Amino acid sequence: MTNWQLKLADKTTKIQVQTGSSQQLLTALPQLGGRKILILTDSQVAPLYLQKLVQQLAAVSQVFTQIVAAGESSKKIANVEICYQQLIENHFTRQDYLLCLGGGMVGDLGALVASTFMRGLHLIQLPTTIVAQSDSSIGGKTAIDYHDVKNLIGTFYPAEAVLVDPELLLTLPQRELAAGLAEVIKSLLISEQQPEDQQLLAQITPDELTKTDLLARLVTRGLQIKTQLAQIDFYDFKERRYLNFGHTIGHAVEALAAGQLHHGEAVSIGMVAMMRALVAHQQLPTSVLTQTQQLLSSLNLPIEIPQQFTHQQIMTKLMTDKKANDVGIQLVLLHDIGQPYLQTMTFTDFKQWLG
Ligand SMILES: NC(=O)c1ccc[n+]([C@@H]2O[C@H](COP(=O)([O-])OP(=O)(O)OC[C@H]3O[C@@H](n4cnc5c(N)ncnc54)[C@H](O)[C@@H]3O)[C@@H](O)[C@H]2O)c1
Repeated sequence: MTNWQLKLADKTTKIQVQTGSSQQLLTALPQLGGRKILILTDSQVAPLYLQKLVQQLAAVSQVFTQIVAAGESSKKIANVEICYQQLIENHFTRQDYLLCLGGGMVGDLGALVASTFMRGLHLIQLPTTIVAQSDSSIGGKTAIDYHDVKNLIGTFYPAEAVLVDPELLLTLPQRELAAGLAEVIKSLLISEQQPEDQQLLAQITPDELTKTDLLARLVTRGLQIKTQLAQIDFYDFKERRYLNFGHTIGHAVEALAAGQLHHGEAVSIGMVAMMRALVAHQQLPTSVLTQTQQLLSSLNLPIEIPQQFTHQQIMTKLMTDKKANDVGIQLVLLHDIGQPYLQTMTFTDFKQWLG
């Protein structure tokens, strides 16, 4: 078991990583006893884990559930309103809880509801994907997509507790698991290498990924990196942006693929595109690119921009990126592993630099 606390703004988040902990929720979170709890989850996670969770909590608390359709398109204002409606009808007060059971979509949506209803309900995250367990459940960013812009509406509202049970990852489809790992690999690239990181990276093979011990170590390392960056830069003005490495091209490719690529797959393509350009300009050792390409390919993650997308289409998408402004676009670049930096380039310069 790994336990730690993260202090962000005026809030403390209790983080626990323990295999099997979701089956003993009240041991880890005794504060849930005697309260009203709204469990928010999605249509894919609900049949797997909702009933067991309700059974545990209903013995000591009043439990309500809200299931939204699985997928990014549920991160929308209509679902925020549906949740508000439930909370109003069931007379929730600020002493009560919202518990997010699911991936980053459910976590972002539920956290936004919790942060705004009566100016703040207690919030618990029970993440069920690699992305959510290693990253999105901590750090306090809440969001919904609006008018086709991802994460346009949001707040900063750290959860009171994040309970990470790596066993929940075993029901993830292989493709989803690999896509989530692309984000962990990204985190390892932007953070100072620890002695155990090389060994951890060497162990990432499709066969080993069925082992909860390895999954626990990977999500714990991802969470440690996220914790550090969120602590230094809670409001996302500088260091926290390093987490966007690979996301500039990644977001453009993801948007052009219109649902055919998972987010992590697009990030895999985006990281490699940026690293290839850095190597071509002798700004990054070739060995870092080679190792990363090998690792991503071994997980069956794509590393090439799909041929049907032209540079012009990618550039047009980039101009609508949240990180873009009139001057150009802010990029996350790497001098080497663990040495990220931010640089703003005009669109013309970026197009040329990318080659
Ligand atoms: N707040 C943050 O700091 C932050 C950081 C990174 C990403 N995000 C957000 O997270 C979202 C992406 O998160 P995600 O990759 O977890 O996607 P997701 O929540 O959409 O989950 C991916 C799919 O996996 C399914 N699923 C979830 N858990 C499962 C399980 N244990 N077994 C089987 N299927 C399961 C879901 O139903 C869904 O179909 C995006 O909206 C992104 O913007 C937020």
